[in-house]
Amino acid sequence: MNLLPRLLLKWYDQHKRILPWRDHPDPYAVWVSEIMLQQTRVETVVAYFEKWMRLFPTVHALAKASERDVLNAWEGLGYYSRARNLHKAAKTVSEKFNGDLPRNLDALRSLPGIGRYTVGAIASMAFGMDEPTLDGNLRRVFSRLYDVTEFADSPVGEKNLWELAAQNLPKGRAGDYNQALMDLGATICIPKNPRCLICPLMKICKARESGAQDARPVLKPKKKIPHYLQAAAVIVQRGRVLMCQRPSAGLLGGMWEFPNARVESDPAGELTEAIRAAYQIKVKQKNALGVINHAYTHFKVTVHVFSCEAISLPDAVKLKWLRVGKLGEYPMGKIDREVARLLM
Ligand code: ADE
Repeated sequence: MNLLPRLLLKWYDQHKRILPWRDHPDPYAVWVSEIMLQQTRVETVVAYFEKWMRLFPTVHALAKASERDVLNAWEGLGYYSRARNLHKAAKTVSEKFNGDLPRNLDALRSLPGIGRYTVGAIASMAFGMDEPTLDGNLRRVFSRLYDVTEFADSPVGEKNLWELAAQNLPKGRAGDYNQALMDLGATICIPKNPRCLICPLMKICKARESGAQDARPVLKPKKKIPHYLQAAAVIVQRGRVLMCQRPSAGLLGGMWEFPNARVESDPAGELTEAIRAAYQIKVKQKNALGVINHAYTHFKVTVHVFSCEAISLPDAVKLKWLRVGKLGEYPMGKIDREVARLLM
């Protein structure tokens, strides 16, 4: 075995984090955890993972669940297309593969939500195959170990990093090797102030040798992310509140929200017209209820929330009067859940 995997696995055997999906014989559990972990920290994922496995203990159970139950179980993790894809893929695995994830890499890759990273993670961790994988932690670790100077987020950089990830795979222990790199990236080779002095790979790290560890990985200059202003209307009548379900594709697909719209600069002054344009609802604005800020990946929003009275409603089917007391049963993003909590 090469020096890198030898040092790394020795460290991992002593220091690996105890996580509920680790050393788990069930490929479904590995799959669920890897999808949850894609944009979310381990500390947050643990509780969601355990609840998910109680609610949907098998691929068949997930395949049979309703979209609403699936989105409710995911609520708070964000990036809801992950949940919808997992649900869709579970239906395929349930019907086509009798509930067992296929061991064939191309068949795995063809499932919704499973890309190159997830294929490598499932193949190595659940099936013991000698396959590499590459996530944000591994990109950083390899960029430092090999002192990579090209943009890690460019096609060429990406290709080279995948080659580095495949280069030192220890036969029969690729799953541990990949997870050891993840743990190292999360606890020692961290983005800022990496803890080189206690790193098991200190002696073989090229960036450390040249003192460049803080400048690796090299990333393309970030574009400034836009910040939007929105106004939202809380319209309550006789214990029910007017809500809208978002289309199933795209941001927050399938989730419920209060009628809302982008405004230019003056939420209170623009609300009525913006809501009319977006939903054909005529409202009379009443009190300001509050202001909520939220950051998505590609933009930020500030939402000004107003209670309103409906003056005239369209026949549009996409709007529904939901019982205020039952809002907990409908999946929502962070912003709308905060408003719903206020109401309840
Ligand atoms: N991040 C993504 N997958 C992981 C895993 N299996 N263990 C620890 N961190 C991870």
